Amino acid sequence: MNKALEEFTRYTNSYLEYGDMIQNKIDHTLRVTDNAVSLSRKLNLSEDKIEIIRVIGLLHDIGRFEQWKNYHTFYDVDSIDHGNYGYEVLKKDNYIDKYIDNNQDTVLRVVKNHNKMDLPNDLTEEEVLFIKIIKDADMLDILYMRSIYELKIKIEDKPMSKEVWDKVLEHKLISKEDLITLSDKLGITFGFAFNFNFKESYIILKERKYFDKIIDIYKDITNNDELKNQLEEMRNIINNYIEEMTLC
Ligand SMILES: [Fe+2]
Repeated sequence: MNKALEEFTRYTNSYLEYGDMIQNKIDHTLRVTDNAVSLSRKLNLSEDKIEIIRVIGLLHDIGRFEQWKNYHTFYDVDSIDHGNYGYEVLKKDNYIDKYIDNNQDTVLRVVKNHNKMDLPNDLTEEEVLFIKIIKDADMLDILYMRSIYELKIKIEDKPMSKEVWDKVLEHKLISKEDLITLSDKLGITFGFAFNFNFKESYIILKERKYFDKIIDIYKDITNNDELKNQLEEMRNIINNYIEEMTLC
């Protein structure tokens, strides 16, 4: 593992000159790796598999650094698919050798597909499991970042639109294309609540109370009563859902 972490540090530090977003992405990656390892332990994976997950955690967003350098955005629609790009980075001159000796194909396929809505059907059961772990670990960290007051996103003094509200309650993930009001950005965050893959992720969510913290922040900054009511309603819906998922 030290070999992988050392190489990750060396590689990513060489991008620091391209701006603060790089350090943010490094920190995000390290937290996602920790989340993925904690979740894997809760799922009782073997130590061997946890080692693979740790390397996958470090590498899942490895394409982000070249993406930022070349396109100055992390928005794939405006640039390149960062999963595919990560795969290319790791394939080039067998760069992946610097991280792991065995199970390279698994790591490569998980990196490539970790951001896909629909997974190809030639993945092994284990690869699908690893992708689900990384997705949950990633969502946990996005929620962590949203729960920090200083990192709050810009909303407006308007409620969430009915369209986005309904979509969240249908357990759909909201994308940037769905947004109507600025407050709808909260729908992206709330949509995560219904899309975790494991009971164990809900147990972590219950412990960390990210949604309560997030809702407190936005209730505090908005002057709109309708949005305040929506936020309280969403708190109940989400907390009931989390509770239900930890019991099943
Ligand atoms: Fe990613």
